[in-house]
Amino acid sequence: MSSHVFRPLFVIIGLVGVILIARLFIVPEDFGVHERGYMYGFYRKSNENEWKAFPVKYKFNNEYCKACHTGQYDSLMQSAHANISCENCHGPALGHPLNPTKLKIDKTRQQCLRCHTHLPYPTSNRATIRGINPDKHNPDIECFMCHNPHKPNIGAFRGGTQ
Ligand code: HEC
Ligand code: HEC
Ligand code: HEC
Ligand code: HEC
Repeated sequence: MSSHVFRPLFVIIGLVGVILIARLFIVPEDFGVHERGYMYGFYRKSNENEWKAFPVKYKFNNEYCKACHTGQYDSLMQSAHANISCENCHGPALGHPLNPTKLKIDKTRQQCLRCHTHLPYPTSNRATIRGINPDKHNPDIECFMCHNPHKPNIGAFRGGTQ
């Protein structure tokens, strides 16, 4: 064979060699196929513990809040908002109550309007949530002034019978 075939061949063999040597240094020692066999292919064993130590931001469970906020919990669970997670409105509870002010109270109309703005989507479940027209429904007054967010039931307005 002539040299114009060999020369690129040497270059390729050289490249493969460099990659194999680099791999020895770059790939972590615990990378490989572990006890779960080939099902999940190759992975780095120490990555399992890294994920276990990953801080979960949301508790997602209203029971978790009940211990310290019994009042809010009890009214919420008897109300039309019973299916809503506390954290849906108050944000992720990671770090709370170590740092009590970490959970902000968002009292804006936007907080409620993300679910209650009337949207005419007849085939979507979103349309089953009672909707209002924000421009017509008591504009400029925050919703919580009249509706108790933990017990929004019609007929249980603030100042009235809660
Ligand atoms: C171990 C007790 C404890 C648990 C559990 C707990 N909290 Fe609290 N929370 C507190 C304390 C203490 C405060 C500060 C005093 C207060 O406002 O009652 C507080 C304050 C708050 C405030 C008011 C913050 C502010 O800026 O005034 C909100 C909102 C709140 N918690 C929501 C929650 C939610 C939602 C959960 C569940 C995901 C939760 N808390 C779980 C103890 C707790
Ligand atoms: C629909 C949204 C929403 C949900 C769900 C919700 N909250 Fe609130 N929360 C608010 C708003 C808005 C305020 C401020 C109300 C005010 O100032 O009158 C508030 C206020 C609070 C406060 C401050 C004290 C008070 O009562 O004003 C605490 C504590 C609290 N919420 C805890 C909880 C816990 C615990 C849950 C779940 C059991 C929960 N919240 C569910 C919207 C919500
Ligand atoms: C000034 C007091 C007041 C304010 C502020 C207010 N509402 Fe109301 N809301 C009412 C009253 C009273 C009713 C029941 C009579 C009616 O349907 O108009 C009501 C009814 C509702 C209903 C039920 C509608 C239906 O079709 O059954 C929803 C949902 C609602 N409000 C959400 C909100 C939201 C979200 C906000 C803030 C963007 C808000 N409200 C602000 C007084 C208020
Ligand atoms: C995550 C979505 C969500 C958020 C945020 C939310 N709501 Fe609701 N709300 C619902 C659902 C779901 C219902 C129950 C179905 C219905 O009645 O429309 C409901 C019901 C209501 C009702 C009717 C109660 C009844 O007797 O039927 C009122 C009033 C209300 N919410 C006010 C508020 C106010 C005020 C806020 C803000 C503090 C708020 N909502 C935030 C989802 C939400």
